[in-house]
Amino acid sequence: MSAATVYRATILNPQGPERMAVYADGALRVREGRIEAVGAFDALSPPRAGDTLVELDGVLVPGFYDVHIHWVQHRVRGRFAAELMPWLREYIWPEEARYGDAGFAAAAARTFFADTVRAGTVAGLCYSSPHPEAVRVAVAAAQGDWLIGDAVMPEYAPAELRAASIHTVDELDPLARELGPARYAITPRFALNCPAPLLAALGAYAQAHGHFVQTHLSESPQEIREVAAAFPEAEDYTDVYDRAGLLGPRSVLGHCIHLAPREWRVLAARGCRVAHCPSSNEALDSGRMPLERVREHGVHWALASDVGAGPSHAMLHVMQRFLAQHRAAGVPVTGVEALYRATLAGAECMGRAAQGGNFEPDKRADFVLLPRPGGTPDAEGWLADWTRGTQLELESRPLGTCLAGQWRAVG
Ligand code: GUN
Ligand code: ZN
Repeated sequence: MSAATVYRATILNPQGPERMAVYADGALRVREGRIEAVGAFDALSPPRAGDTLVELDGVLVPGFYDVHIHWVQHRVRGRFAAELMPWLREYIWPEEARYGDAGFAAAAARTFFADTVRAGTVAGLCYSSPHPEAVRVAVAAAQGDWLIGDAVMPEYAPAELRAASIHTVDELDPLARELGPARYAITPRFALNCPAPLLAALGAYAQAHGHFVQTHLSESPQEIREVAAAFPEAEDYTDVYDRAGLLGPRSVLGHCIHLAPREWRVLAARGCRVAHCPSSNEALDSGRMPLERVREHGVHWALASDVGAGPSHAMLHVMQRFLAQHRAAGVPVTGVEALYRATLAGAECMGRAAQGGNFEPDKRADFVLLPRPGGTPDAEGWLADWTRGTQLELESRPLGTCLAGQWRAVG
């Protein structure tokens, strides 16, 4: 049997929105990139000859999952222009047009994945530009466990991007087959970018081949008005996707801010997942996602950065904005829930809970080392401490990240 590495540190192991195991002097035994055991250091069987003991000064948490991020917007993150539509036109679409150049895209992908790993993100659900080749470039550069799709947008966008987009599922099929459902997500960018027959064809393809679907839903009031005008036959925005067969347990819907009660009931009935993007919603002044409604309807959700509308790819920053926003509205939220929503809940949204999201045996050894805060050893206090500070501080807070057993301290 190959040798194991035992990491000794304080360990937080999220179990649910209100449950987290804490090992003040904990240990994680890792063999061949997988977790073999987790617990109190004294309770774990002692290291065998040949095993390596790594003593880490800090607190281990599971690696972060970001279930809604646009890797092709990383270079222009945090450039605001008031509302979603002018922001897309002024900053985002001109930038995405550049990703038709594979050399440019490859260099940008290396930077993106280096930055996300350094900030502690080990997995995610990711939008690319409409160029299928940019997806291949991203998959080749990916560090961690990523599901990626080319933004399908044959309408309602600059000509260059419309031309780069697939127009039929026949055009999508080669890339989807090449990468398979574990790597490739069907990505109709949002309703305005796709005619109803194409949405329906994408829905049928996703169902037939077991692909995840990612799209945007109900982000800005102007967007909602335009969707109502473009799809007069649909009852509401959610119904546009529902009619197309795009809603199910493998559908991850970004934003969901301005939904009517009927729409929440549909999302719950279909088992859809919501990607909650608090920092993005704040930056584009899109409104607060009504956490009370998500909870009321029992819709599963996870946190996401939505870079580049979200100004930072650091999930610690997303957690900070999540806590601040809902607390300001008088909605109770905890650091324990924020950590769960940035880790295990993300793995659950991506159908990866058996492979990652926390420290249960047999999962991938993906984790982040955070500095040990001073004061009382209390997880809620630590989470408050880790999520305090500027965006830049939060991006550089992790002391190291371990991906599938490969430990890298931040140099
Ligand atoms: N709606 C359609 N495209 C986008 C995008 O790139 N970002 C956000 N936040 N919303 C969108
Ligand atoms: Zn988005």
